[in-house]
Amino acid sequence: NKQYDYLIVGSGLFGATFAHEMTKAGKKCLVIDKRDHSGGNIHCKKIEDINVHWYGAHIFHTNDKTLWDYVNQFAEFNRYTNSPIANYKQTFYNLPFNMNTFYKLWGSKTPSEAKAEIARQIEHLNLDEPQNLEEQALKLVGTDIYEKLIKHYTEKQWGKKATELPAFIIKRLPIRFTFDNNYFNDKYQGIPIGGYNKIIDCMLKNSDVKLDTDFFEDRAFWSSQAKKIVFTGKIDNYFDFKFGELEYRSLRYELEVHDTENFQGNAVMNFTDAETPYTRVYEHKHFEFGTQPKTVITREYPITDTKNAEPYYPINDERNMSVLKQYQQLAELESNVIFGGRLAEYRYYDMHQVIASALKKTKSELETE
Ligand code: FDA
Repeated sequence: NKQYDYLIVGSGLFGATFAHEMTKAGKKCLVIDKRDHSGGNIHCKKIEDINVHWYGAHIFHTNDKTLWDYVNQFAEFNRYTNSPIANYKQTFYNLPFNMNTFYKLWGSKTPSEAKAEIARQIEHLNLDEPQNLEEQALKLVGTDIYEKLIKHYTEKQWGKKATELPAFIIKRLPIRFTFDNNYFNDKYQGIPIGGYNKIIDCMLKNSDVKLDTDFFEDRAFWSSQAKKIVFTGKIDNYFDFKFGELEYRSLRYELEVHDTENFQGNAVMNFTDAETPYTRVYEHKHFEFGTQPKTVITREYPITDTKNAEPYYPINDERNMSVLKQYQQLAELESNVIFGGRLAEYRYYDMHQVIASALKKTKSELETE
């Protein structure tokens, strides 16, 4: 007497993609979410007729044509290109580090001048084996870029000195010797016209959806509703934290409505000095080339005390990875449960990656039936 084929815990991009594919294949899905809205972290709220990215800026980008076509079936995408501005003590630099940045920093007019300047700054540092994040970043980009554009921003993000952070956090730094301010290298990029909610609503339209519903408040009841469970919440929570909690970095957002048409002239501004307490300011209308009379901005503050905060970025250090391994071993024994998405896999996924992962899981699920 199980009513549904799948109970999907979490209506984020993983759960919604799974629900879409399964309902398309004729399965009955019940999607529950503890929040008062669907969409997980890509959810937008309409304020002053502007789509406000409620859980931080979301820019869709991918190199994969199949995934690009896949999302375009739910919404058309605009031509938004992410080109953040770095604000260091009120001097502005282009990101990612490129010829515009080098020209502003040193007056370099050619790629070879810029390369020579970076090489000159790295030369005397003696950093063959970087011992921490500071040394690693210095080795990659030299002193000026590190001091003005990386050091304080990273220290604010982590609430720790760069010399106390491990080198592995920074493996590569995007650096290019062209005048190209496009942050991403991917072939396809944009924001869905009409907002991300349109995609999620479309994906969930043939499922039953219950919001304000936490799986853990009555897991026996919810589990009894379906033959199988797709779990996209926190994996440590699923196993009652028996091996301890997995840690996350988090952020806090302060929203402001301004009675002006254009507040900062760009969707994303990074604050790379130590004096400014926030890391970024988003001006949401610029994601969609909005012309509304007012504007909505969000100031983003990193938080170090993450007890009751939203779990945003997994911390992939040794301790967390070994705790995760223990949970994954238990997860393998749960034959009726599919664990997927960024919380259940404790993995940072971009949107295109989480869709790819959900598509892969639905495919193997349908094949093994
Ligand atoms: P997600 O967290 O979205 O969904 C999980 C859902 O499960 C939530 O709705 C939650 O409420 C629900 N849930 C959890 N526990 C539950 C329980 N016990 N009972 C019921 N429901 C429960 N990607 C990108 O491509 N470009 C970008 O620009 C960005 N930007 C970005 C900024 C920030 C600050 C973050 C943190 C992330 C990004 N991302 C991104 C990544 C993007 O947000 C991510 O890929 C997807 O939202 C992941 O979707 P999931 O479904 O895995 O998780």
